[in-house]
Amino acid sequence: MIILAVETSCDDTSCAVMADDYKLLASTVSSQNLIHEKFGGVVPEIASRRHLENITPVFNQTMTNAGLSLKDIDGICVTLGPGLVGSLLVGIMFAKGLAVSTKKPFLGINHIEGHFFAPFIGQEKPDFPYVALVASGGHTALYIVSGFRDYKLVGQTRDDAAGESFDKVAKMLGLGYPGGVAIQNVSENFDGSITLPKPLEREDDFSFSGLKTHVSNIIKKQEVLSDEFKKNMAASFQKTVVEILTTKTINAAIKAGATHVVISGGVSANRLLRKKIHEKASLNNLRVFIPPPEFCTDNAAMIGVVGHKLLSDGITTELSASAIPDWVL
Ligand code: KG4
Ligand code: ZN
Repeated sequence: MIILAVETSCDDTSCAVMADDYKLLASTVSSQNLIHEKFGGVVPEIASRRHLENITPVFNQTMTNAGLSLKDIDGICVTLGPGLVGSLLVGIMFAKGLAVSTKKPFLGINHIEGHFFAPFIGQEKPDFPYVALVASGGHTALYIVSGFRDYKLVGQTRDDAAGESFDKVAKMLGLGYPGGVAIQNVSENFDGSITLPKPLEREDDFSFSGLKTHVSNIIKKQEVLSDEFKKNMAASFQKTVVEILTTKTINAAIKAGATHVVISGGVSANRLLRKKIHEKASLNNLRVFIPPPEFCTDNAAMIGVVGHKLLSDGITTELSASAIPDWVL
């Protein structure tokens, strides 16, 4: 079976074509980072307008790269939520249009479940049940994944998402957007010396808002933001977030008796997080599966993994389905 996947939940316009055994035939991601950079975050109205402009060229490019035409596609899947309603609707309408015109099965996918399965793209797959950390600009949550559509929430953020806190701290330090990449780059090979709080340390849930406020209060006390201070604060902040994410993820796996761990979402592209989670996992006889950086951030290929499995099992969604901006798994 060959399926087309469409993802437009936030600011990346993406299409992918996936064949059996989760073989990725083509994948295109059109990023809007440069457009939203000057605002320090995603502007929903601009994001949806750009999706409208991008979706057809991204689809055409993907089909050309796959060397296929629509008649070769056996099913179409799309992210229904969670996400920005205007952005979601562009992808959903496009995918529905293709499904109606080709009379092919249609399936709606949850964006977060896509992240759970990002490591399945072209590499060794984790065994069920595994613990999955999804840490991005909009979400931070830990789940036990026991199979496709068999998920249990372990803990989630009570306020800001981890990526959102990277973006806000980077903005305070004048480092640019997306903040995670900017903070990672100035912190490279540098161990920050500022001690920062780790809220909800003993609980399964996350909280990043107090940490961000603490950083903001320290920044306000500086007369000038020297490069040295910025580097030290960025490195200290990154180290603290990485410790929080790593400790909670490893503890969740131990508690659940899972031996495999997945991390996904934009923040899992972070080099320090990738290094630290591998170190801590091997100390606890756990194996970590992390998608290559291009599949950590939003992409249609991960939606295609879930779509391929469920459409192959005959699972479809009514064409009357629409965007579910606050879809909770
Ligand atoms: O998954 P994603 O592309 O989109 C959402 O669903 O939000 O994640 C984007 C988030 C942004 O907040 C960005 O700052 C963060 O992921 N991010 C990173 C890194 N690359 C992207 N955070 C830390 N380190 C990185 N290398
Ligand atoms: Zn995402």
